[in-house]
Amino acid sequence: MKRALIGGYGFVGEALAPLLVEHGFDVWAIRRRPCATPPGVTLVTGCLTDPATYDALPGPIDCAVYMASAGGHDDRAYRDAYVDGLGAFLTRLHEKARPPRRVLFTSSTGVYGQTGGEWVDEDSPVDTDYFAGEHLIEGERLVQGRPNGTVMRLGGLYGPGRTRLIDMVRRGEAVTPPPPPRYINLIHRDDAAGVIAHALALDAPQTCYLGVDCEPVSRQDLYGWTARALGVPEPLETAEDDGWPSRRRTTNKRCDNRRLLASGYRFRHPTFREGYAALLTLADPG
Ligand SMILES: NC(=O)c1ccc[n+]([C@@H]2O[C@H](COP(=O)([O-])OP(=O)(O)OC[C@H]3O[C@@H](n4cnc5c(N)ncnc54)[C@H](OP(=O)(O)O)[C@@H]3O)[C@@H](O)[C@H]2O)c1
Repeated sequence: MKRALIGGYGFVGEALAPLLVEHGFDVWAIRRRPCATPPGVTLVTGCLTDPATYDALPGPIDCAVYMASAGGHDDRAYRDAYVDGLGAFLTRLHEKARPPRRVLFTSSTGVYGQTGGEWVDEDSPVDTDYFAGEHLIEGERLVQGRPNGTVMRLGGLYGPGRTRLIDMVRRGEAVTPPPPPRYINLIHRDDAAGVIAHALALDAPQTCYLGVDCEPVSRQDLYGWTARALGVPEPLETAEDDGWPSRRRTTNKRCDNRRLLASGYRFRHPTFREGYAALLTLADPG
């Protein structure tokens, strides 16, 4: 039986694991805190940087996915998660008699520093002057240096239990930024899991994909649509600090997912409208 390992079993990992079981994998997952797992998934509790954690794993791993997240938004946390943690993961797995046939790392669209709302794709310049881009790109290179190493640059994740923007609008806490449009690039958790499983199943994957849905949306449009869907007042426009991290307020780009679509992936939630409607259990209000 093929075996898959998920390093960093959390929001997306919990959706990915059953897909991999469906694809015929015996799935193993690593995280520090214990949690329940569905049939076909075995949890190893331990730190990804601790060599002893890997002693609990069975024989060869066919596909390994590194999807730990940083414990904070700072230089140290990003280096720990995306360089040191990922480096330890790769080293341990490649010490095994048979290294994984596939390795995938969930990077982020946060590697881009564009500010003018321009379209970006996998070949666009990245911003390594900022710590997030610096460490994510270093991690990407570690993975791309391995045979069949693939990077999935995920956009902003949302889904069941992760509804921060919807909740802000519902509570009247969201504020709409003034023009120009300030784009965000989203992906529903189920599609994030879907694109990872899809990339692992490709015969000849590319080294990088943008894991975002089919329609970058401006915060202005997202908030307006959500308010109408919820039947609450639309957020007012203001230039004041609205609680978004300063970096997220200044970067502004539209991520192009055509490489992923060309590889054959079909989205369950092609835009935030389907994804949010599923969460709100509402029809699209138009
Ligand atoms: N959130 C976003 O919008 C976004 C955007 C782009 C990319 N991404 C990336 O997408 C991936 C999946 O995100 P997610 O939302 O599923 O993350 P998540 O819910 O935070 O899950 C990650 C899991 O990794 C485990 N973990 C973290 N450090 C660990 C360590 N040192 N050793 C063992 N386990 C560790 C955590 O569990 P324990 O604490 O129990 O160990 C956590 O459950 C991450 O790589 C993230 O950086 C996220």
